[in-house]
Amino acid sequence: MEWTPEPHELADLELLLSGAFEPLTGFLGHDDLHAVHESGTLADGTPWPAPVTLHLPADVSSGVSPGDEVTLLDPEGVPLAVLTVTAREADGLVAGPVRGLGAPEHGPFARLRRTPAQVRAELGGRAALAVTMRGPLDDLSEITATAKELDAVIVLMPLAYGEGGPAVVRAALRAQERLPAGTLVVPVPLAPREEPEIDLELRERVAAAYGAAEHLPGPDPVTIPGPPHRRGLVVFFTGLSGSGKSTIARGLRDELLELGSRQVTYLDGDVVRHLLSKGLTFSKADRDLNIRRIGFVAAEVARHGGLAICAPIAPYAATRAEVRAMVEAVGADFLLVHVATPLEECERRDRKGLYAKARAGLIPEFTGVSDPYEEPDDAELVIDTTHITIEAAVSRVLETLRSGGWVR
Ligand code: ADX
Repeated sequence: MEWTPEPHELADLELLLSGAFEPLTGFLGHDDLHAVHESGTLADGTPWPAPVTLHLPADVSSGVSPGDEVTLLDPEGVPLAVLTVTAREADGLVAGPVRGLGAPEHGPFARLRRTPAQVRAELGGRAALAVTMRGPLDDLSEITATAKELDAVIVLMPLAYGEGGPAVVRAALRAQERLPAGTLVVPVPLAPREEPEIDLELRERVAAAYGAAEHLPGPDPVTIPGPPHRRGLVVFFTGLSGSGKSTIARGLRDELLELGSRQVTYLDGDVVRHLLSKGLTFSKADRDLNIRRIGFVAAEVARHGGLAICAPIAPYAATRAEVRAMVEAVGADFLLVHVATPLEECERRDRKGLYAKARAGLIPEFTGVSDPYEEPDDAELVIDTTHITIEAAVSRVLETLRSGGWVR
């Protein structure tokens, strides 16, 4: 079987394969996890501070049994390792040792990554002071003083994981220039653990695996999000066909283009279905896929600080929540606007004549008539266009963008 783990699991896999997680050779099962939790050891008593796990969705893991081999792929489908399953838990946790397949490393700063064995060889027995960092190092005096006192080589270990990974490596390279000659920079893709003490203990373990006698954790990064008008934003309209979403969305786009202060991408439901989602039906599965595609594009726009306006029906709450999560994961903001014009009013207007056709049974699975629409309970703005003009509706959205600082 083949499986593509989540990004944090792939990061752990890389550390398992490189030896940075020694004595661990694979993903942990419930027995080990329980022991880690209770006593900071594995089930056999070996000290180990943190969970290192691989989760498969229940429907996938149910096809896996002890003794099976699972090939772990990166998101592009390159086989990275083979996991020999020793245990499979009811919740989808799959445990077992992993064996690397020697796939070439890629990604930003891949050339700087080294295994613990390589770094220990570079150190050649000299004492080392590891500095693990998740953000920039402003004050280098403690590091310099400690290294001098220990007569140690400084090894800067940017814990390069996720969106901010490359930035922390750049921070390490900048610090390297201000530190004694011979200072090493070794990026390590260690995903942060939830509990700070455990995270710290794990950093210490990894530093020790790299041959460091001493470990200094760099200061926690202070993430100051940019001002709203520089952050990415997705304005996501949802509502019935004929509710006025597209008209308001278009009006908003035009206003924003006139103001000119933001880069705007407009993803209208009907327009998306002509290219991005061409061929999809109105089944639940295809509607969900349609919304995920829209969400994917919108999140990419927002990742680069753009403003994406989406206006599909998006009838399912869970799928809308997925899009919200995708957008927030790239550090952008998500604004759900429910165009809550009631069905009776949409049907009375019936601009495209679709409700008449749906009632006549000519269009199956028509939202509101023969297919569900789950009303949002998490909308930032609710607009019923029954008694207000389009201009007034657009103004309400624009006012929300102004008061939130997204538009100046
Ligand atoms: S969604 O459910 O996947 O979000 P989307 O916004 O892309 O829907 O498409 C909705 C548009 O497709 C409607 O405005 C309408 O013009 C057209 N349409 C055609 N068939 C259906 C249907 N069965 N249900 C809803 N809209 C439909």
